[in-house]
Amino acid sequence: MKLAVIGGDGTGPEVISEALKALKALSQRFNFEFKYDELNYNGTRYLATQQLLSDEELDNLKTYDAILLGAIGHTDVKPGILEKEILLKMRFGLDQYINLRPIKLYDTVESPLKHGTSESIDYVVVRENTGGLYTGVGSFDKKDTKDEVAVQQMIYTRHQVERCIRFAFDYAVNRHRDEAWKGLSQQDIDAGYRAQVTLCGKTNVLTYVFDLWERVFYEVAKEYPSVKANYVHVDAVCIYMVDDPGRFDVIVTSNMFGDIITDLGAITQGGLGVAPGANINPEGVSMFEPIGGTAPDFTGKNQINPIAAVGAGQLLLAHLGYTEAALCLENAIKGVIIQMSSQVAAKMGFSTTEIGDLIVEAIHSS
Ligand code: IPM
Ligand code: MN
Repeated sequence: MKLAVIGGDGTGPEVISEALKALKALSQRFNFEFKYDELNYNGTRYLATQQLLSDEELDNLKTYDAILLGAIGHTDVKPGILEKEILLKMRFGLDQYINLRPIKLYDTVESPLKHGTSESIDYVVVRENTGGLYTGVGSFDKKDTKDEVAVQQMIYTRHQVERCIRFAFDYAVNRHRDEAWKGLSQQDIDAGYRAQVTLCGKTNVLTYVFDLWERVFYEVAKEYPSVKANYVHVDAVCIYMVDDPGRFDVIVTSNMFGDIITDLGAITQGGLGVAPGANINPEGVSMFEPIGGTAPDFTGKNQINPIAAVGAGQLLLAHLGYTEAALCLENAIKGVIIQMSSQVAAKMGFSTTEIGDLIVEAIHSS
């Protein structure tokens, strides 16, 4: 396994170094070769050299099995520059058209949802990752006058929509290969369903883009008779994510809605410190990252929770087919979370590196 490792800015490098510790331990435990190159595509380099991410550097990323990314963003750089020219350039340039974000509450992790359990908060958001409002197409008219008009276009091609929806259905089928989804009613089970995909849109207002999404969704759904397909408006999705998350299995949605609802989801699963995500190009090079940002206030303090970055490592292993190692890492994460919760009550919190060490220990003793 050969990875491109981009620690990035803020606490990115600290949490990624814990993820690397875990991957190294797994490579010893499961006997696979593990190599990586650390690349300094970040805000610090930009401030020093004005370099963002060149086309050559982007091309070079295609020579790796996968990319592990910490976080991009710098307090001294105007918002939008690094995000657009480094993070989004990778997502778009490597055609990572799926942003997969599991929303999973592990046992003993505290959720702000009073009735949230590890049974009910266990679903996946498949966020479209290369189109919509993120394409950057738009304009100003009469800029800086009182008649100014700003336009930002939500653009989707059928191709983009279809490949994303198809991925969501395939994912739902694979997720429930062994056991049908527990949220199904007896009636659904009798009807032959094993899984569910929910389209999250806004067909009542965005009558072009989500009309396209909805038509393609039900067309593709016909090819997956064992997957229940339903539609929920994005605002109602937010209500249910808080009030009744157990009704979701796989949610598929546009780029912008996916960005918003996955932050809500991350909070319900215990916060950005535990939420990983995967930017996937099923035919190319994928990128794995903790979904929380650079956390500048915590930088260099050895305080930030690296579990999300370690979880990104788990998604990476699973994606590359290191199934056993991925499972081992998930169990290590679960175990360490329980270990932490029993001790957090008694004493102070754990440091970034202590948590990484516990994960490594759990890997070696499994
Ligand atoms: C995310 C982030 C990015 C996004 C930003 C940093 C461009 O919020 O990964 O969710 O909007 O996609
Ligand atoms: Mn976001």
